[in-house]
Amino acid sequence: MKGIILAGGKGTRLYPMTKAVSKQLLPIYDKPLVYYPISVLLLAGIKDILIISTPADIGDYKDLLGDGSKLGVNFQYKIQDKPRGLADAFIVGEEFIGDDNVCLVLGDNVFYGQDLTKILNESKRQIDEVGGAMVFGYPVKDATAFGVVEFDKDNNVISIEEKPEKPKSNFAVPGLYFYDNNVIEIAKNVKPSARGEIEITSVNNAYLEASRLKVALMKRGMAWLDTGSPEGMLKAAEFVEAVQARQGFYIACLEEIVWRRGFIDDDQLRAIGEELSMTEYGKYLLSLL
Ligand code: DAU
Repeated sequence: MKGIILAGGKGTRLYPMTKAVSKQLLPIYDKPLVYYPISVLLLAGIKDILIISTPADIGDYKDLLGDGSKLGVNFQYKIQDKPRGLADAFIVGEEFIGDDNVCLVLGDNVFYGQDLTKILNESKRQIDEVGGAMVFGYPVKDATAFGVVEFDKDNNVISIEEKPEKPKSNFAVPGLYFYDNNVIEIAKNVKPSARGEIEITSVNNAYLEASRLKVALMKRGMAWLDTGSPEGMLKAAEFVEAVQARQGFYIACLEEIVWRRGFIDDDQLRAIGEELSMTEYGKYLLSLL
């Protein structure tokens, strides 16, 4: 399975913070926001990762992440010249995906929780074995800003609505999606919505109509943090700081994940740790050994 991180868009809702800097490069406490969704793909064991961003920002991502060899993975890059919608990730990424299945994570989505690795591995296995699509439902107080799942009285999913004024449930669909290879053709056939975007929600509804969509509900032990406003970013940073300070384990430490998974060995981890040894982050890496 391949992985895609969509890290484009104009970030206008966070101006002036994002006027000169890509939103997904802003810090959440001690690391760039994009580390958090990348950690999700690495936890799923996905090593081939495409990062999609704007013509203005793609160079910054290359500077930050390189070709991935230091982490024992493969990062590739592709430009999205205009924010055409989330489903455009599969059109921009068509060649990269090739004949594989794919997991898309939005570059501004932060997940953390005990069951995360289990959920990721099960979703990956499900798509690789039986195909179709797998998305998630996460309970939120106000679902109006998201894709929202509608259930019938027997709890079957009957539709997903994008940013409904009157949500039919409080289950929002987070920016983490698993698809079989048909997603490329489905994305190509999606008609732009009223806001002019090819919506990921339309892709999900196409799978639903073909009875090929599974919606797994995330439980309260899972944190899906909002980074869509300055307040959300501050709260997400405070959450990361609190967990890290209390437990001593880092959230979304890419080097730790690839080392624990055996993508890099002790010597490679030590070399990265020594390079960063003037920081708490570098000291943490060295402490793992
Ligand atoms: O975060 C989950 C939500 O993400 C879902 O519940 C919604 O169904 C989905 O439409 C999406 O809603 P947003 O309003 O958050 O999407 P937004 O337009 O803000 O884009 C999400 C991220 O993707 C953002 O960081 C910018 C980036 N992006 C967006 C578009 C439209 C791109 O890189 N390219 C694009 O063309």
